[in-house]
Amino acid sequence: MLTVSSLGNPMPNDYTYNEHHFVPSQPKVCIIGAGPAGFALAADLKSRGTDVLIYSHPTHHRQASYVLDKGYLKAKGKITSTATPDVTYDISEAVSFTKVIILSVPSTGQETILEALKSFDLRGHTIVAIPGNLFSLVPKVGLEVENIFETNLSPYSCRMHEGELIVLGKKKLIYIGSLHANLSTHSQTQIQHIFPVEVKWCHNIIEVCLSNINGVFHPLMMLMSAGRIESTAGDFMIYADGLTQSVANAMLAVDSVRIAIGAAFGFELKGVVEVSNECYGHDFKDLVDLAQNSGPHNNLKAPPDMGHRNISEDVPDLLVCWYGLAEKLGVEASPIKAVITLVEMATGRDYMEAGRNMRKLNLEHLSRNELLDRFGVGKSKLCI
Ligand SMILES: NC(=O)c1ccc[n+]([C@@H]2O[C@H](COP(=O)([O-])OP(=O)(O)OC[C@H]3O[C@@H](n4cnc5c(N)ncnc54)[C@H](OP(=O)(O)O)[C@@H]3O)[C@@H](O)[C@H]2O)c1
Repeated sequence: MLTVSSLGNPMPNDYTYNEHHFVPSQPKVCIIGAGPAGFALAADLKSRGTDVLIYSHPTHHRQASYVLDKGYLKAKGKITSTATPDVTYDISEAVSFTKVIILSVPSTGQETILEALKSFDLRGHTIVAIPGNLFSLVPKVGLEVENIFETNLSPYSCRMHEGELIVLGKKKLIYIGSLHANLSTHSQTQIQHIFPVEVKWCHNIIEVCLSNINGVFHPLMMLMSAGRIESTAGDFMIYADGLTQSVANAMLAVDSVRIAIGAAFGFELKGVVEVSNECYGHDFKDLVDLAQNSGPHNNLKAPPDMGHRNISEDVPDLLVCWYGLAEKLGVEASPIKAVITLVEMATGRDYMEAGRNMRKLNLEHLSRNELLDRFGVGKSKLCI
């Protein structure tokens, strides 16, 4: 066996000469973010022979410290394993471990991670943000990265309690894209090689962000169950008990705006149930059917309070940017605005200002046509 470095390729990877042809060797992967989604990905990749290092930010070490204290990670459900994951609090170790970094922190934590990364030369690195929520457009003051990819969702539905991981569901596919659409098939193959699920290439990160259906599910489910969440500290099933027909009706109003924004860019976005069915390989007929019968959803307990990332991530980093795009494009978006306003009234937070608005994403100066020129389907070619 020979190993040859793929110098000059847009993606960092090595190739191994095996029998009569070159095949990509299994890369080393560093996962930044030591929560359930990061640990689930680590356990899955490790079981496939990938060398994985997990980085936990030193001030966000809730689950990492349980795992390190116990000395092992026990995973149950769709992934069953007991293993000793390699975990570090040292960002320089994370950067030097591999050229492939997967970001698995809530998008509200991405800037903290960028701050930790800013003194490193990442011109040979690839970062995949799971989910991206337009991470590529967040100003990176002086930080240059070789490639950035974004996904719409995490491959897993999972939770963690005191260092023990429960994986309720594993998706069959997730959506992925980059800022620039002219990605070679070779680079796509290398990205697919890293992932334990199929990746479906979108035109660009705007289509990926609009395909993060958590923006449809989470804020409304939380808002419309706020009383029950606060009076029971989340002692009920958020989907099975919380997603009833009226909640579903409200979600569909938000979903129709999401699809209309996509249509203005020229994307043919699927409805929320169709995206979920496609990702999990299900065939639920509507939202209530999904909430009652989908294994990855119907066993999820409600969060204990309204500070949860179902609100604090999905409102500022999805709904606020969807609303900003809709305003630019002249798409009627009052259902989305209504949800943002109610959440702001309930929490006292100014998410329109704090979230990924057009100014934060550096899109404020673009006219409608310039926005469409940059991200519309006419201008960006589909890579597959
Ligand atoms: N878990 C799921 O089933 C699921 C499903 C779909 C999508 N996702 C998405 O996948 C991402 C990760 O999910 P998760 O469940 O693993 O999330 P999480 O537990 O809330 O956070 C993941 C990790 O990021 C850390 N973190 C949070 N805020 C941070 C910040 N400001 N700076 C640095 N680190 C920070 C957390 O540490 P602390 O906890 O100590 O703050 C934790 O180690 C999220 O965007 C989530 O929406 C998750």
